[in-house]
Amino acid sequence: MFKQAASIIREADTFVITAGAGMGVDSGLPDFRGDEGFWNAYPAYSRLGISFVECANPQHFVADPSFGWGFYGHRTNLYRDTIPHDGFHIIRRWIERSSADYFVVTSNVDGQFQKAGYDDDRILEVHGSIHWLQCQKPCSDAIWTNDEVIRIDERTMRAREPLPRCSGCGLVSRPNILMFGDWSWLPDRTHVQESAFERFLSEHAEHSIAVIELGAGCAIPTIRATSERIGWDLEHATVIRINPREPEIKAPHISLSCAALEGLRKIDEMLQESITKPCPVPPLPCQAAPAQ
Ligand SMILES: NC(=O)c1ccc[n+]([C@@H]2O[C@H](COP(=O)([O-])OP(=O)(O)OC[C@H]3O[C@@H](n4cnc5c(N)ncnc54)[C@H](O)[C@@H]3O)[C@@H](O)[C@H]2O)c1
Ligand SMILES: [Zn+2]
Repeated sequence: MFKQAASIIREADTFVITAGAGMGVDSGLPDFRGDEGFWNAYPAYSRLGISFVECANPQHFVADPSFGWGFYGHRTNLYRDTIPHDGFHIIRRWIERSSADYFVVTSNVDGQFQKAGYDDDRILEVHGSIHWLQCQKPCSDAIWTNDEVIRIDERTMRAREPLPRCSGCGLVSRPNILMFGDWSWLPDRTHVQESAFERFLSEHAEHSIAVIELGAGCAIPTIRATSERIGWDLEHATVIRINPREPEIKAPHISLSCAALEGLRKIDEMLQESITKPCPVPPLPCQAAPAQ
C-alpha cells in the first residue's frame, strides 16, 4: 500500500491535501475524538461535565464571555506555541520537487499549514480560523486578525480581563470559527477561500491529482466527504487516506492505517529509494567513437 501511495505521489502533478484534527496530533495537539478524547485534553471540562459540543457554542461569548474565551483563548495560545511536525514539510518537498500545484482543505482552525509555509491563498479553512476575530452580534461584516494577548486561569478554564472586544460596538468579540448551533458566524472569509478552491479544481480537473487526507474523523465528516468527492468525480484523482483508527476507503483509493507523520515518512523513504536506486538497464559496453 505504501508503495502504491509512493507511485501515485511520484506521478502526480497536482496535490490536494485534506486534513482534520489528526494532522495536528504528531505536533502534540489534541484531537477531540469523542467525549473521552476531549476530556483527556481538557480535564477541567471533564470535572464540569461539559462536552466539546457544549464548549464550542457561540452563546458563551454573549452569556459568559470569560468562559467562552477560556476555551478559545487556551486554544489560541496552544496553536500559537505549536511547531508543525515534519510531515507538513515532507509534503511541501514533494510539491516543490515536481513543481506541482496544490491546495489545502482543512477543518482545523489552528493555522498550522500557514505556519509550515503553505501559501495562504491556497488554503481553505472550512470551519474558519482561530487567528481571525469577528463581533459576537455581529454588528458589521468585519473580520480582523487575532493579535490579542489572552490570559487563562487553567484551573477554571476562564479567561482574565481584559477580553478581546469589537471596535465597532464594544462588545466582546469571538473567533471567526463556525461553532455548533452558530447563527452569527461570518462566513465571508471562508467563502472567498471556497471560490478559490473550486476554481483550482476546475482548472486541474484533467490533471493527475494526489489527494492526501490526514487525520480526518467520521464524526464531522466534512473533510472525508471532500476527499471522496474529488476521488470519485475526477477521473485522474486518487485519495490516499492516512488515519490510524478510521482509515477505510474503497479501492482504487488507498487506505493507510497509521499516524500522519509515520505514514508520510514511510512514503517519503520509498520515494527517496526510487530516486537513488541505480538504473536497472546495464550500461552499454565501451565503444570507440566512430570516425566521422
Ligand atoms: N487543531 C484543530 O484545529 C482542531 C482540533 C480538534 C478539533 N477541531 C475541530 O473539531 C472537529 C473535529 O473533526 P476532526 O474529524 O478533524 O477530528 P476528530 O477529533 O473527530 O478525529 C480525529 C481523527 O484523527 C485521527 N488521528 C488520531 N491521531 C492521529 C495521528 N497521529 N495521525 C493521523 N490521524 C490521527 C483519528 O483516528 C480520527 O479519525 C473539526 O470540525 C475541527 O474543526 C480542530
Ligand atoms: Zn460589534
